[in-house]
Amino acid sequence: MSRTPLIAGNWKMFKTGPEAVAAATSLAGLASDVADTDIMIAPAFLSLPLVSEAVAGSNVKLGVQNLFYENEGAYTGEVSAAMVKAAGADYAIIGHSERRQYFGETDDAVCRKVKASIDGGIIPILCIGETEVQREDGKTFSVLDKQISNGLNNFCSRDLSSLVIAYEPVWAIGTGKTATPDQVAEIHGNIRSLINKLFGNELAMSIRILYGGSVKPDNVSELMSLGDVDGALVGGASLDAETFIQIIRYDK
Ligand code: 13P
Repeated sequence: MSRTPLIAGNWKMFKTGPEAVAAATSLAGLASDVADTDIMIAPAFLSLPLVSEAVAGSNVKLGVQNLFYENEGAYTGEVSAAMVKAAGADYAIIGHSERRQYFGETDDAVCRKVKASIDGGIIPILCIGETEVQREDGKTFSVLDKQISNGLNNFCSRDLSSLVIAYEPVWAIGTGKTATPDQVAEIHGNIRSLINKLFGNELAMSIRILYGGSVKPDNVSELMSLGDVDGALVGGASLDAETFIQIIRYDK
């Protein structure tokens, strides 16, 4: 089964509205002839409507870095799937390690957010990853298995047809340390087997599994050559359009 690669940029808490528009406009121009690779950028919520206008009609799609699981209500400071959809987002990054670490996001909340995304017509990118200590303690597989089985609790495979999983080892995020190709191949293979066990072969074969953590123009090709790597979730190197386009064109 062929899976369309997805190269996604997580802009985190960088760029004002005008800065986001400038970078997105530049990226849309540079990426205008890219075919067979899905491209997504996730700016800050505030910039979403502006960036949506800037990339309209291009092959750059938009995502958000989080959303809340209720549709509406008295939830001060939160934003729903319907709101981000109306503002132009097609994807939502859910359960990023920075949200788990700094904002106390639990597997249960992550699960509800995945459901809210799917119900709202948004493609969820479920992020999982182990810390350095967990890896050193030999707990990598049990941590990832738990994040997946709890984050996808009570779903059936039909619900999850659009789901994307991003494996982002916490120790590789923003550190310049990338997991080795052997480590990535082993983990991605394990994730696909777990999806097979939980939801069957069809979803296991079609689901896109991205790698994230210090992806750069000079390491992306090797990562993308691994059979179970279907794309990248890129932080720092997605902020500059000239750099990000080199990652998007990893096979050139
Ligand atoms: P870096 O590419 O800056 O390591 O960030 C990865 C990440 O957290 C993407 O979500």
